[in-house]
Amino acid sequence: MKTLQVISPMLLLLLLAGVCIDGYKPVVIVHGIFDGPKQFIKLSSFITKIHPGTKVSVIDLYNNIFSLRPLWKQVEGFKKAISSIMQSAPNGIHLLCFSQGGLICRALLSTTPHHNVHTFISLSSPLAGQYGDTEYLKRVFPDYAKRMVFRVCYTRFGQRLSLCEYWNDPHHRSKYLLKNDFLPKLDGEKQHKDMTAWRENFLRIKKLVLIGGPDDGVITPWQSSHYGFYDSNENVVEMKNQEFYRNDTFGLKTLDARGDVSTCVHSGVKHVEWHSNFTVFMSCMEKWLT
Ligand SMILES: *[C@@H]1O[C@H](CO)[C@@H](O)[C@H](O)[C@H]1NC(C)=O
Ligand SMILES: *[C@@H]1O[C@H](CO)[C@@H](O)[C@H](O)[C@H]1NC(C)=O
Repeated sequence: MKTLQVISPMLLLLLLAGVCIDGYKPVVIVHGIFDGPKQFIKLSSFITKIHPGTKVSVIDLYNNIFSLRPLWKQVEGFKKAISSIMQSAPNGIHLLCFSQGGLICRALLSTTPHHNVHTFISLSSPLAGQYGDTEYLKRVFPDYAKRMVFRVCYTRFGQRLSLCEYWNDPHHRSKYLLKNDFLPKLDGEKQHKDMTAWRENFLRIKKLVLIGGPDDGVITPWQSSHYGFYDSNENVVEMKNQEFYRNDTFGLKTLDARGDVSTCVHSGVKHVEWHSNFTVFMSCMEKWLT
């Protein structure tokens, strides 16, 4: 008993010292379409509860209706905000990005030389694009069914709306490649002079974590959260059979060959519940946020 009493405060001190020396890397959260920092209070509290002392920042930019602003513009804004957090984190940071935020984070990673993002967690993000009649689509285009949306989206006007910049109509592929100024560039399906540099920048991450599931209800097809997408018959082609994977146009295949792509699938989770579900946090995110 006596020994225990002596040891435990010392242990406590050691543990505290350990936390101070090693610490948890700061976590930066990027929100999705039609939301903002408010929606991530719960997720932030999960992180600080399980990993006390973690500095969690939810970037307060382009919230709610402003999330419809052009994506490259948003990327610049988020980049500025996040680069100052990176600079004060010599051991690197983790990026946790939800929904549309996942695409912003991808673009940010590809276009930021020397970034120090360790783990990029993509939480139910339409990484390979979006093609579905959802409540979100109705909010932007109340009068259009998915089959018609390309007519608006694949125009110069349409490309000023974020949603259109990852709208991926499998029946109008050539128009998508020609008119879409965001996702095909990011995927390296549309050649550009910076492809090699973007690929190198993206590959600086140590881990890519892809989270999504069949009951999402918004991401369509839901496999887009794992880089799968429709072919021209609307059959889902999984990540490894995507041309951007096979050609390794932006580094995904290299990352996977390195063993650094981790996927996490959960059923029973609706789109807006991913970030507030403790089971999802513990099984898909917690172990990477050290
Ligand atoms: C993949 O490589 C093939 C053969 O080199 C080429 O024809 C095709 O355009 C490439 N696709 C992409 C998405 O880079
Ligand atoms: C939380 O996630 C689990 C799957 O891991 C699911 O079964 C459950 O329904 C989810 N709860 C809510 C409230 O979304």
